[in-house]
Amino acid sequence: MRRKITMAATAGALALSLAACGGGGAGSTEGEEGAGGEVDASDITVGVAMPTETSERWIADGNAVKDGLEALGYQVDLQYAGDDIPTQTQQIDQMITSGADVLIIASIDGTALTSQLENAAAQDIPVIAYDRLIRDSENVDFYVTFDNFAVGVAQGTALLRGMGILDAAGTRVADAAGPFNIELFAGSPDDNNAGFFFEGAMSVLQPLIDDGTLVVKSGQTDFDTVATLRWSQEAAQSRMENLLTSTYSDGSMLAGVLSPFDGISRGIITALQGVGMGPDIEAGLPIVTGQDAEIASVKLINDGVQSSTIFKDTRKLAEQSITVAQAFIDGEEPEANDTETYDNGIKVVPSYLLTVDTVFAEDIAPLLVDSEYWTADEVASGVAE
Ligand code: GAL
Repeated sequence: MRRKITMAATAGALALSLAACGGGGAGSTEGEEGAGGEVDASDITVGVAMPTETSERWIADGNAVKDGLEALGYQVDLQYAGDDIPTQTQQIDQMITSGADVLIIASIDGTALTSQLENAAAQDIPVIAYDRLIRDSENVDFYVTFDNFAVGVAQGTALLRGMGILDAAGTRVADAAGPFNIELFAGSPDDNNAGFFFEGAMSVLQPLIDDGTLVVKSGQTDFDTVATLRWSQEAAQSRMENLLTSTYSDGSMLAGVLSPFDGISRGIITALQGVGMGPDIEAGLPIVTGQDAEIASVKLINDGVQSSTIFKDTRKLAEQSITVAQAFIDGEEPEANDTETYDNGIKVVPSYLLTVDTVFAEDIAPLLVDSEYWTADEVASGVAE
């Protein structure tokens, strides 16, 4: 960045390098013009590192970030890493070598990028952590994400509502006394978000476990035991199959399963249906939560199979990441709305958190179709067009 902006105004360059170092200088809005001439947006390249294409949400995120940046005239280097950590580190190294001016990174393992980020800092390349916090590095300049604890609270609440313990207004239903058997799943232990989701959900569920309304019949309640490496659908299916064998083969009723992500939810549902439960909620399939409003799960919700998901509007997250990238390019300090929550082990990273919505079947039309996130045809087919 500094290389290019130096061709333009000195003040702009200075402001940019201050902002890039996280020093938060006053900034200049005139960074693109000056004695040396104008910096053309097409001279600026933004490297965008995404984790995987196996989940649609990351494809939607990547496309939305790319399209938005290109609409502003910037060059974009968008890379997916197939959920492979060495691939992602190589891609980021490559982006730096080929002259990226800003990096937007959704990490696979939040702790694996320290040396890449050192290289980025050495070249004054601002680094924006996208959705997932990058840990153990002082060289993370900003974090754009959703309120991850609130996602977990929404998941725990949706589980209780699906099971009929809370009504739609969140009020305790008097005759739903239990005890109800549930099982718990968490996300990938190397993704900083997974802990926030689990803690948020347990903040809602633990009091009901303590008062005996809910019983985790397998006894598996600690994060490391219930975590799902790389958010794998297959791993979740196989853990659910094992739980069904170990804990429910005596005919005990399972009422609900906390799932932190739609891919995991579908693995769980396959395992449940595999032992003859369901096939849908009306026919006795346990309540399963989710996250991301992936189209395959939205169809399952529409069909009464999966109970709920959490909608994170990736278009808004992409837009926010572009606003932050633009601020860095202009030598300004991006606007944060949280400067306390996200300690990455070295520093608290200034963050911008977006809100989320819970989706049950009746919310699909107003939240997902009306906002053009999915079309009614996609909801019916379960396939993104
Ligand atoms: C998390 C993300 C979730 C979900 C999950 C699996 O980091 O916050 O929304 O996408 O990864 O991809």
